Formats: sequence, structure tokens, C-alpha cells
Amino acid sequence: MTSTQAEIEVSYDVSNDFFRLWLDEAMHYTSGSYLTGDETLEQAQIQKAEILADYAEVTPESFVLDIGCGWGSNLEFLATRRGVKRARGITLSTEQCEWIHQRGVPGVEAVVCDYAKHEPEEPYDALISIEMIDHLCSPDQATKGMAVELYRAYFQKTASWVKPGACFGFQAILRNRVPRSRKDLEDLAFTADVIFPGGLNPRLEELVQAVNPYWEVLELRTQRTSYGKTTAEWLRRMRLHEAAIRETFGDPIFDDYDRYLSTCVRAFERHWSSDVQMKLRKID
Ligand SMILES: C[S@@+](CC[C@H](N)C(=O)[O-])C[C@H]1O[C@@H](n2cnc3c(N)ncnc32)[C@H](O)[C@@H]1O
Repeated sequence: MTSTQAEIEVSYDVSNDFFRLWLDEAMHYTSGSYLTGDETLEQAQIQKAEILADYAEVTPESFVLDIGCGWGSNLEFLATRRGVKRARGITLSTEQCEWIHQRGVPGVEAVVCDYAKHEPEEPYDALISIEMIDHLCSPDQATKGMAVELYRAYFQKTASWVKPGACFGFQAILRNRVPRSRKDLEDLAFTADVIFPGGLNPRLEELVQAVNPYWEVLELRTQRTSYGKTTAEWLRRMRLHEAAIRETFGDPIFDDYDRYLSTCVRAFERHWSSDVQMKLRKID
């Protein structure tokens, strides 16, 4: 693990009330999937969850694990819209876990646990993970050439948890091109160091290398423009609450999140970043 629990708390434990002001009602903190471009953020988030549940071949009888489950938005989707009776999530954030327990959705369970230490009592039928892998390799480790090895350890571990032939609906934010200007580089470094310390977005090639020999890639779609729309909508909603955020959470929180979300919008527009969804099947 590279993002420590303390680093995760920097990213996700600012305050649940803060994130509620600008995420969708279910609190998906990852890209939605805009299929026509005209959808609301809420619709795009449901479409994302549908794609990944289909990739994972989830049925109501499936015992499903969501690795890095955030505030439980996808778990809640599985239980309420797909009729899943047993949906479990793991997260490193205690605030997120408490939030999920407060929602009290029947069939949904969450635990604070590092994925590397997770040992299920019985195998899962399906896995879903939405933008958690960016916490597994730090910039220093990537510089030392460790990225594929760290991601492969994750894919090996996750494959050990499932039944033969099980599927995995996987989504990751990607790093693509490197910007040229000093200001853009500084904004990206700020986002990494201040908002998501310890993390680094993987490159698509690294993921495709790392799934082998544990998972076969059956389908793959990228959705760079969807993430641009998602982050633009988060920024728009956050700015609507500027006065309240400054008063309740302080000026640095508003200013830092404004800079980070504005940088994200540019990052997706200019191809510095993208997002991928993959349907993986366990190789037995
Ligand atoms: C960007 S959030 C995504 C949350 C959620 N999947 C969503 O779509 O809103 C990343 C999540 O990964 C979790 N995470 C990061 N490293 C982890 C680890 N080593 N083990 C378990 N969860 C981890 C964080 O606690 C957080 O919930």
C-alpha cells in the first residue's frame, strides 16, 4: 500500500458535509459515464454503475465486493437497483465507512480495511473497483520502475478472492500526456501533493501489462470526455456554495478544491488525463 490511512484521510475525510454540497446525492466521487452528453450528473453516475455491474456480470444472487467503495454509492446502486442481497465494500476511510453504516441500506456492508490485508471468508462472485488503483503506486515508486509490479500484486490478490470464471468491473483514472507549461505542471503537482498525497494515476499500458496472468481483458472503453464533464459539474456545484464553504470549512478548503477541480477540467480537455473501464475475467 502506498497511500497510507493518514493520506487517505487528507483526501476523503475533509468532511462528509463538504462533499455532499457538490457531489451527486449518492456521493460517487469518480467519473460518471455520459453516453449522449446531455445527461445530468446523476444519470451519468447511474450509467457508470450499470456499465460496471454488467461488466462484473452481477445478478441479485451475486456476493459482490467493491474495492475502495468510497461513500458506498455503488454498493447502494447494487442493492437498490440490481437487487443484490450481499454487497460488501472496503475503504481506508473511517468517515466513509461510518457514512455507509448510517445510510443503513439492507444488504450493504462496509469495512475499513487495506485491500492487501483483506481475506474473505468465502469467494466472491463478482468484483467492482472504481478509481482506487491510483492509490497503489506513489510517484517515487513509479520513478523506480515499480508500477507494474505493484498493480500486478493487486490483480493477483483480487483474483485469489473470486470463484472460477468470475468477472471484474474495473475503472481507473489514467495519466496520458505531460503538459508543457510550468503553471500547468504546478497545478498538477498541487493536485497530487495536496489533494491526493501518495497517489499517482496509472498509464493504460501499465494496467494492461499488470492484469496478466490473472485476468483476461474482455472489453475496454475509455471515457476522457465523461470525466471532463463530471469534474466541470462538480466545480460548478461547488462554486454555487462558495460563501457557505468559506464560512464553514475555511478559505483554504474552497481555494484548494477550486484549484484542483479547475485543473481536472483542463487535464481531461487537454488529454493529460483520461479514464478507463475494463471488463476482466479471471484466468483459471
Ligand atoms: C476516489 S475514491 C473512489 C470511491 C468510490 N469507488 C466512488 O466511485 O466514489 C478511492 C477509494 O479507494 C479507497 N482506498 C484507497 N486505497 C485503498 C486500499 N489500499 N484499500 C482499500 N481501499 C482503499 C479510499 O478509501 C476511497 O474510498
